[in-house]
Amino acid sequence: MARKFFVGGNWKCNGTTEEVKKIVTTLNEAKVPGEDVVEVVVSPPYVFLPVVKSLLRPDFQVAAQNCWVRKGGAYTGEVSAEMLVNLSIPWVIIGHSERRQLLNESNEFVGDKVAYALSQGLKVIACIGETLEQREAGTTMAIVAEQTKAIAAKIPSWNNVVLAYEPVWAIGTGKVATPAQAQEVHADLRKWIHSNVSAEVASSVRIIYGGSVNGGNCKELAAQPDVDGFLVGGASLKPEFIDIINSAT
Ligand code: G3H
Repeated sequence: MARKFFVGGNWKCNGTTEEVKKIVTTLNEAKVPGEDVVEVVVSPPYVFLPVVKSLLRPDFQVAAQNCWVRKGGAYTGEVSAEMLVNLSIPWVIIGHSERRQLLNESNEFVGDKVAYALSQGLKVIACIGETLEQREAGTTMAIVAEQTKAIAAKIPSWNNVVLAYEPVWAIGTGKVATPAQAQEVHADLRKWIHSNVSAEVASSVRIIYGGSVNGGNCKELAAQPDVDGFLVGGASLKPEFIDIINSAT
C-alpha cells in the first residue's frame, strides 16, 4: 500500500509571536509538492496555535505538542483534547521523549493519551525511541516494541496514527541515525506490527523518523523504503524545513 510522505515540524518550546509569524511567512511562500504527495504538519507551542492556524496556508496543517489524558476539568496547566478539537486543531504529538524523560510519562500513560486523543477525533503523531544506553545494550527493538505495544493495547484503530521513531540519542544532538540504522528499526517495527496488530496496519501505517534531520541528510533518509517521512525539531524553525518537505519527491 502506498503511504503518503509525512513531514512534521515540532517547534517545541520556541518562538515569539513575531518569530512564529516569520516562520509561517516562509512556509506560505515555499514551493513544495502538493497535498497528494506530502502531508505537512507544523506544531507550534499551544499559545501560538490560533495565530499559526489562522495564517498558515490551507494545504499545511497544525498539531499541538501534547494534550491531557482524559476529559478536561480540574487539571491546572493542562490542555484537553476537546479544546484542540474546539479550535479545529487536527493533530497532536503524544509521547515525545522530552515529555517521557522530563515529565516521567510512562508507556502506559502515553498509550492512554493516544487512545483518548483518538477517541475525541484527533489524529496522533505517537513518538517512541530508545536512549543511547539502551541502544548500546542491544535493546533498541525490545524498547520500541514495548512502547508500541502500550499504544496498540489501548487503541481500536491505527487509521489516524503516525508512528514517529525518534532515537533519544539523535534528538537535538546533531548525531543523526544513519539511513541504515533508521531503516533497520522502521522495518523491524513494521514486522512487529504485522505480527502483533495486523498485516493491513503494517503496510499502511506511516513510520516517520526524527532526530537531527536537516536539509543535508533528509534525502538519503527519505530514500529508505520504510522511512515514510520525518518529525523535525530544530531544522523546522529554519528555511531548510522546505528542503526537508521537498525530500518527499
Ligand atoms: O520532535 C522532533 C525531534 O525531537 C527531533 O528534534 O530535529 O531537533 O533533533 P531535532
